[in-house]
Amino acid sequence: MTELSETNTSKHRTPVPDYIPNELVREIDAYALDGIEEGVHEAWKRVQQPDTPPLVWTPLTGGHWIATRGALINEIYRSPDRFSSKVIWVPREAGEAYEMVPTRMDPPEHTPYRQAIDKGLSLAQIRQVEEDIRRVASELIDGFAAQGHCDFARDFAGIFPVKVFLALADLPMEDAEKLNELAKEMTRPSGKTPEEQGRSLAQANKGFFDYVAPIIAERRGGEGTDLITQMVNSTINGEAMPEDKALGLVSLLLLGGLDTVVNFLSFMMIYLARHPEAVKELREEPKKLHRSVEEMFRRFGVVSDARYVVKDMEYYGTKLKEGDLILLPTVLHGLDDDQHEDPMKLNFSRRNVAHSTFAQGPHRCAGMHLARMEVVVMLQEWLSRIPEFSMKKGAVPEYHSGIVAAVENVPLVWKV
Ligand code: HEM
Repeated sequence: MTELSETNTSKHRTPVPDYIPNELVREIDAYALDGIEEGVHEAWKRVQQPDTPPLVWTPLTGGHWIATRGALINEIYRSPDRFSSKVIWVPREAGEAYEMVPTRMDPPEHTPYRQAIDKGLSLAQIRQVEEDIRRVASELIDGFAAQGHCDFARDFAGIFPVKVFLALADLPMEDAEKLNELAKEMTRPSGKTPEEQGRSLAQANKGFFDYVAPIIAERRGGEGTDLITQMVNSTINGEAMPEDKALGLVSLLLLGGLDTVVNFLSFMMIYLARHPEAVKELREEPKKLHRSVEEMFRRFGVVSDARYVVKDMEYYGTKLKEGDLILLPTVLHGLDDDQHEDPMKLNFSRRNVAHSTFAQGPHRCAGMHLARMEVVVMLQEWLSRIPEFSMKKGAVPEYHSGIVAAVENVPLVWKV
């Protein structure tokens, strides 16, 4: 984590272009938010004050816009004709080095790739693996339930999604640690300058490609029912999937399902450990669990990626230039007071749980059924074994912001 802390202390500024009015400039480092020691969601929420303009410009991380309101985040994701996926990560150098497929394609190029992915990750497919997911969760919890404590981030969240995914993809379990490390470097690339962050991202991207290349070669033409075999043998517009696209697509599947679920689960459990009344409600109303999990997705958004402005335009009264990047912190949709009353509080009876935690529009998360299933099953298995738990006294979780927000050190304790 030393590289990450170096990133966090760096404040590499890019000159503010002439067309950006001074009153829209805010010093916001998406990789090192002010106030992050209190929590990533709390730190993003500080950015969203009642008088914060809907679009602000930061000279940090290469210089980019930030959409600060749920209405914009929702609309920008849904408008690929104006806001393209050509570059989706900041800094731009990292976005350009990122080669996962089909996240950087716009419709109609994106559509056939997305159809191939949807086949493998549909709700019907995911229901078939529910029992496998349950087994992974229960074995992990059984491994520490009797000891009365665990570091949730290390002992559960860091292992569960990767094991589930490796099982779906029929890959060896011992690859879990390596993949988690690569995912971290992709979503919070180290480096003090945009160029350094671009280089470390390119290296992590290559790490994924080197890992998946021999697996793809082996499974081309294969008969297996695992996710990778299904993907690499799908056709795109009637043709076999090209080699470079298969590399990017299989790598994305590995990346998409790891860091996101890992950190979402930890954020959720920190809150629950500090709010026993919420845990009691989950225990006493199991029928509401699916709805309650949606409220948790609203509250604990983790992804902050970007869109590329396709032409000069005026948007929400602000002049945007072709090629500008707009960061969309998905947390700021679910936490927007314009949309939700008392948004920082979990309220399992909330009627409107609108959020962009899984994005919106054509790129809306292809793995959301799997993610929802993982969270529901995990809570069922956890609460049946560990009905009451809290944070260890004096514990200080360590938060990181980035493309995917993260937290380490989540020590939980319970009575045995
Ligand atoms: C808490 C868990 C998760 C969150 C918060 C999340 C969030 C997101 C977001 C915000 C996007 C849109 C990115 C963009 O368009 O710029 C996305 C796309 C995607 N996610 Fe997830 N994700 C989660 C879990 C998963 C899982 C378990 C998988 C399984 C493989 C997955 C696979 C994907 C894929 C393949 C895409 C690309 C879709 C496309 O480009 O059309 N995600 N996710």
